[in-house]
Amino acid sequence: MKKAAQPVIAEDELEGKTVEESRVVMARTMQPSDANPFGNVHGGLIMYLADEAGGAVAIRHSRRRCVTVAMDSMIFKEPVYIGDLLTVRACLTFVGKSSMEVEVEIEAENLRSGQARLAGTSHLVYVALDDDERPVAAPPLVVRTAEERERWRAAEQRRAQRQRAK
Ligand SMILES: CC(C)(COP(=O)(O)OP(=O)(O)OC[C@H]1O[C@@H](n2cnc3c(N)ncnc32)[C@H](O)[C@@H]1OP(=O)(O)O)[C@@H](O)C(=O)NCCC(=O)NCCS
Repeated sequence: MKKAAQPVIAEDELEGKTVEESRVVMARTMQPSDANPFGNVHGGLIMYLADEAGGAVAIRHSRRRCVTVAMDSMIFKEPVYIGDLLTVRACLTFVGKSSMEVEVEIEAENLRSGQARLAGTSHLVYVALDDDERPVAAPPLVVRTAEERERWRAAEQRRAQRQRAK
């Protein structure tokens, strides 16, 4: 069957979208195969899940293919163990032209005691790509609340820092 032609949308015609429209929450129970012999979940797996959730946010916002271009350092504040429910909360903080910054928060909950702790936080940057793998404009981000505006300001500073480090 012939593929339908993609509508061509000029950059200045892109409608803004809110933070809520692309927010993602992902949860998974940690299994023995996710951990080292002492029962601590691998940091690499947590980073993978953070990237997976962040990528879903970027694709949801842009409805484009997206690639990860940067991931800030991740501090693991609390250990995560086999049996914990790991919840990744991801939302947009900033949208440039083609790039989108996502904040990711990782919470670990002991399902038997109900005790939940913040295991880590990070910021990841994604770039929306067109069908020729070139950066393409993403819809502007509509920031509504004081908290969203504060996150935007903090993201602008991180963006300036990343540009200096390039
Ligand atoms: C993403 C990629 C296409 C960007 O290419 P590029 O030549 O740097 O493109 P540009 O200079 O036009 O930059 C595009 C956007 O990326 C941002 N960017 C580029 N390098 C960046 C970095 N190191 N950190 C943060 N943002 C960056 C730019 O600021 C720009 O944002 P804007 O459009 O909002 O202003 C290219 O770097 C790439 O393909 N990287 C590999 C991605 C990948 O394979 N990831 C892992 C698997 S998903």
